[in-house]
Amino acid sequence: MSEDARYDFDEIIDRHGTDSLKYDCAEHRGKSVDLLPMWVADMDFRIPAEAIEALEERSRHGIFGYTEPDDAYYIATCDWIERHQGWRPDSAACVLTPGVVFALAAAVRAFTEPGEAVVIQSPVYYPFKEVIEDNGRIVARAPLSYEGGRYAFDVVAFERVVEESGATLFLLCNPHNPVGRVWSEGELRALGDVCLAHGVTVVSDEIHADFAWPGHVHTSYASLGDEYARRAVICTSPGKTFNLAGLQDSNIFVPNASLRRRLMHAVASAGYSQMNTMGLVAGRACYEHGESWYAQMKAYVWENIRFCDAYLREHAPALRVVMPESTYLVWVDCRSLGLENSQLHELVEGRARLWVDFGDIFGPEGEGFIRLNVACPRSVLERALSQLSSAAVTFPSV
Ligand SMILES: Cc1ncc(COP(=O)(O)O)c(C=O)c1O
Repeated sequence: MSEDARYDFDEIIDRHGTDSLKYDCAEHRGKSVDLLPMWVADMDFRIPAEAIEALEERSRHGIFGYTEPDDAYYIATCDWIERHQGWRPDSAACVLTPGVVFALAAAVRAFTEPGEAVVIQSPVYYPFKEVIEDNGRIVARAPLSYEGGRYAFDVVAFERVVEESGATLFLLCNPHNPVGRVWSEGELRALGDVCLAHGVTVVSDEIHADFAWPGHVHTSYASLGDEYARRAVICTSPGKTFNLAGLQDSNIFVPNASLRRRLMHAVASAGYSQMNTMGLVAGRACYEHGESWYAQMKAYVWENIRFCDAYLREHAPALRVVMPESTYLVWVDCRSLGLENSQLHELVEGRARLWVDFGDIFGPEGEGFIRLNVACPRSVLERALSQLSSAAVTFPSV
């Protein structure tokens, strides 16, 4: 397939029977099988044709022994990040991990001791809390504020949390899932200055970096300058951009050699060494040949976000889209319905028959919100929105 091929993201691809977490695991997760899944963050789109071909070619070889990436892998990765994320990582600073969450957990173990506090800005992607607590550390929440339909943070309050908790580690979500903020350079610098002043290492999860929507530009924490980068771990991955979550390929850049050694030790002490062969093949092929697919996918998903916003404004104005600046995850404020948590569950699952992520799993500040994954064919999105809005306008207590 040539690189200027047109992709048809309207195509409905049946994912049932592929052991898909989104489509095949409802029963295991205690959900009804008829719910329309709009939750976990993967896309219902086939990956770029060149990447499928690369996987096919590699699989025809038939031997899948231990694998190490070659120079071409790192060149493709660093070139992509330079073209799309505004900075050029040094491949020598790369620590490979089977996913970003694995890296977050390793960082918690590498840079803190049991019982110490780690700062997060809630509501935030729920594994942030899990990797802290599951490793016997304490979550120090510095909640975001939400005013006039937009999320922000108060740097004085952030600093107070750092001081009072004595934290030496901050897990930053940049861009932020689920609230969709693309943090500006000024905002990152403000957070970074607090962290530098208090000796706090910053782990910047930049897995959504390729999704800055019109009017917004992603700023990598690493691009703030050497002083900031030397106290930071930058988590990147082709996983969200190219829908490769199941192939577990992520590239974690740690410019400071001493921090890098500590992170590598934490990765090794978890028993991990060589990467998944197919993840490396797919990651490289996407970064080398995925430009056109990426541009088309982004245009499609952005239209889905606009469609979602317009649809709910027209059909269920009580459900307010917090317009994302990044990510294909739409954070919907349902609080004006005035429902208890259990009633919101009844509306969304019981009546609308949707499987979504409810806001409270991202932290108590998320109560009354839901998160919808709109990286799907538009007809599927329309069906979900139709079910949701009908349920919202007819729900008994509304
Ligand atoms: C902010 C963020 N980090 C990490 C991940 C998951 O990364 P991985 O599958 O590489 O562990 C997600 C997935 O939704 C995410 O939103």
